[in-house]
This record gives sequence, structure tokens and C-alpha cells, in this order.
Amino acid sequence: MIRAKRLVASCKIHGSEQGIRKYFVTTAEDRPLVVQFCGHNPSEIAEAAKLVRSMCDAIDINLGCPQKCAKDEKFGSFLLDEPKIIEDIFKALQSANLSVPVFAKIRISQTLSETMNIVRLLEKYGVSLITVHGRRKEREFHTKPADLDIIKQIKQLATVPIIC
Ligand SMILES: Cc1cc2nc3c(=O)[nH]c(=O)nc-3n(C[C@H](O)[C@H](O)[C@H](O)COP(=O)(O)O)c2cc1C
Repeated sequence: MIRAKRLVASCKIHGSEQGIRKYFVTTAEDRPLVVQFCGHNPSEIAEAAKLVRSMCDAIDINLGCPQKCAKDEKFGSFLLDEPKIIEDIFKALQSANLSVPVFAKIRISQTLSETMNIVRLLEKYGVSLITVHGRRKEREFHTKPADLDIIKQIKQLATVPIIC
């Protein structure tokens, strides 16, 4: 997971080749390769995705991280309550015409219907695959088993592949 903000800033300071290398190093054998970004600024995320698109097979956006840093910096699962920001991020990625697919990783919300609202939003903006973490964002960590029933229902309703 790379903070989009840091990658973009690094490339402004050091130029794209060196700027990318500070946060992202890979090898020719490391394929297929998905680069995951986090952030809440749509244009920064689209810019970051453009910087690495030729070096990977897909871009993934982290809407699942429940940690304190995600709360403080407003990314990961803390965006699940902000559908407008999610919409703007995926709209910006769609407009960026990346030529690689865009994926998203989410956590389940309180209800199936709330979770499906996010899934539908992601589908609307062309997301090709969604990873669903079967625990809620309220820092459930390992205190509860993953809710495999809700994942099964999401898989039945979604139009894109769902992995968990
Ligand atoms: C130390 C650590 C780092 C993680 N980093 C990422 C990450 O960068 N991106 C991501 O999507 N998930 C990340 N995860 C979440 C895992 O991919 C996975 O969803 C999670 O560990 C499985 O759920 P559980 O730990 O609640 O069983 C991380 C988890 C841990 C414990």
C-alpha cells in the first residue's frame, strides 16, 4: 500500500523515475502485479496511478484499512462512510484512462444493503474486481470471525468478481 500523496510529492521533488523508486521497487518477474494506493484526494490518486500504470497490471484502491493512521489521514475503511469521496476517486481514475484495470478493497458495512451501495458505486465507475474483507471497519480485527454469509450474498448480487 502506497500513500498516493507521498508518491506524487516524491515525483515532484525528485522527478518521476527517482521519485517512484523511493516508494515502489519491482522486478520483471514480479507479475502479475497490482499496485495498491490509499488516500482521499481524487486527483492525487489518479496522478499516482498514472505514474505507475506502465509498471503494473492493475491498480487497487484501499478502502479497507481500519488502522489509526487511516483514521488520522482519512483513507482506507474510513472512506466507506463518505460515498461522495469514493465516487470522486473512482470518477477521477476512470477519467484518467489508465489502460490497466482498477480494483478496490473494501470491508463489509453494517448491513448488506449498505455494503451493496458501495459495491454498486464502484461498479458504476468501472471497477473490475472487488476484494471484500468480511469484517466490519469498527476495528473487528480477530475478535469476530469473518462474515462469510454476507460475502456469499455480495457475490450473488455483484456484477464484478468478488474475492475475499
Ligand atoms: C501488518 C498488516 C499489514 C497489512 N497491510 C495491508 C495492506 O497494505 N493492504 C491491504 O489491503 N490490506 C492489508 N492488511 C490486511 C490484510 O490484507 C487482510 O485483509 C487481513 O489481515 C485479513 O483480515 P484479518 O487480519 O482481519 O483476518 C494488512 C494486515 C496486517 C496484519
